[in-house]
Amino acid sequence: MNWSEMLKKEIRSSFLAKNFSLASRTTMGIGGTAELYIEPLKSEDIVTIKKVEASEGFRLRVIGGGSNLLIRDGIIPDLFLSTRKLTGIEIGTRNDEYILEVKAGTPVSILLARTGSLSASGLEYLIGIPGTIGGALTGNAGARGYSISRNVEWVETIETTGDIRRWKKNEIEWGYRSSSFINSGRIIVSCGLCVKSAPIDTIRKNRAFFWDMRKEQPYGTKSAGCIFKNPEGLSAGKLLDECGCKGLSIGDASVSLKHANFIVNNGNASFEDVIELIKECRKRVKEARGIDLQLEVRIIDG
Ligand code: EPU
Repeated sequence: MNWSEMLKKEIRSSFLAKNFSLASRTTMGIGGTAELYIEPLKSEDIVTIKKVEASEGFRLRVIGGGSNLLIRDGIIPDLFLSTRKLTGIEIGTRNDEYILEVKAGTPVSILLARTGSLSASGLEYLIGIPGTIGGALTGNAGARGYSISRNVEWVETIETTGDIRRWKKNEIEWGYRSSSFINSGRIIVSCGLCVKSAPIDTIRKNRAFFWDMRKEQPYGTKSAGCIFKNPEGLSAGKLLDECGCKGLSIGDASVSLKHANFIVNNGNASFEDVIELIKECRKRVKEARGIDLQLEVRIIDG
């Protein structure tokens, strides 16, 4: 019995498919075929997968809502695990604060709807950010200088050994669009987020402020969010724009006319189309400004 047959036998409660097209699970609409794809419903299933991984040695790739991700085309002989079905929010209180216990696969939009109905403020800067809370934590997502690390109380992970560990906020390292969970082999399963009661008008005003900037972005198109990180003190989008990248296209992939740090899939763009476009953009900025843009989007090309 090979590893994928073994997992099919061990894991019963989850969505599990062989030869699964990953394009349907990325916001860019690009991605090849995974040998095995699993959406666990319970974190216990992830523990089982980790244990089988330790004995069978296949490659496990963890994805969330697929929003900051570019996956190569073709057959990928690995196990892809998406946390998107591990959802749920429990509300706790601490003095005048709420501590929300949020499962990793909960969409950011659902969390914001819940805080709205509680009249709780503190996460409005996440408005318009696609994907799951697990993904937002991994990449320390945010906007306008705010990022999710500011609300985190704790994060629970499944370790490479299959053990569950709860990280207190001061045990986690956060950076600009990064955290110590990136490439750690750990899988985030839930977190505690702190928000405060506030008048609904304040929340509406904050949301409107953060929503405004989304008008300058190609919201609602097939993209992976910002492609490059901002170099310190500069905007990657502005640099790319100044270097004439807006509207560049290869195959069905093009640099957004709205915001030059977004690449849009206009239909059937391939992984290679996007990679070539990324190279061209990088080259232009390097030649004109001497700056090496660093990727924000995660690329799975192996
Ligand atoms: N600008 C241009 N041309 C462009 C894009 C931007 O001239 O094509 C100008 C804007 O007019 C503005 C300045 O550049 O004057 C900054 O642009 P923007 O406000 O869009 O901010 P940004 O630095 O380009 C960052 C984040 C975005 C986040 C926005 C708003 C990164 C890499 N980008 O963009 O995050 O939504 O601020 O807070 O950190 C993401 O992480 O996926 C993302 C899109």
